[in-house]
Amino acid sequence: MTDVNLRQFKPEKLFAPRGFVKPQIESPQYLEIGAGRGKHALMFAQDNPNKHLIAIERTRNKFNDFAEKAEQLSLNNLKAVHADAIPWVVHALEPKSLAGVFLLYPNPEPKNPSQRWLNMPFFEFLLSRMQDKAKLVLATNIQSYIEEAEQLARNQWQLEPSVFAVDKSSQRTHFEVKYLARGETCWQMDLIKPEGYQTRFDDWVKE
Ligand SMILES: C[S@@+](CC[C@H](N)C(=O)[O-])C[C@H]1O[C@@H](n2cnc3c(N)ncnc32)[C@H](O)[C@@H]1O
Repeated sequence: MTDVNLRQFKPEKLFAPRGFVKPQIESPQYLEIGAGRGKHALMFAQDNPNKHLIAIERTRNKFNDFAEKAEQLSLNNLKAVHADAIPWVVHALEPKSLAGVFLLYPNPEPKNPSQRWLNMPFFEFLLSRMQDKAKLVLATNIQSYIEEAEQLARNQWQLEPSVFAVDKSSQRTHFEVKYLARGETCWQMDLIKPEGYQTRFDDWVKE
């Protein structure tokens, strides 16, 4: 289903993050990558007691803030993880284990297009970890980022993106609050993994 022109992701080359402990995967299991100080993760877990969220942040000081708040609320459906999400996902998740993925206001990587999520070979691996009909939500304040992501979703990943402006009253993350308060438009792209969608990692499981 995917275009094979992109460099292929090599999960077998990635070491587990330092101190990695394989998590118990719950059902339904959601994943947030780049959770920052955890505003969305904490709200999602509080508002959806029957859904389980793993929220990953790699910057130490942001993660510490998030982890402290998560501990205070002791939500048993939220796991805060301090790691680089790429090796973490490779070592922790089996194919078709995720009911949904959040990529909210990722770093725009203006000088490094290959580090934007839909441009990364890892994106195919991430798709392989999603269940059929699972939804991936990407949000950004940068119009060119969402336009590029929309094109890649269609042309590289053969998916049907739905793109729209985020409601002005939305307050899901610290970055979203900041951008909307400045009067900027924020954009969201929803991608649903179609039934029968195939990737080259559908049978790949970390030994
Ligand atoms: C612009 S901030 C947005 C944070 C939060 N989502 C928000 O909207 O307030 C992007 C975050 O993604 C994190 N990040 C980027 N790449 C990551 C990766 N591979 N694994 C985990 N976190 C990552 C960065 O450390 C940073 O905190």
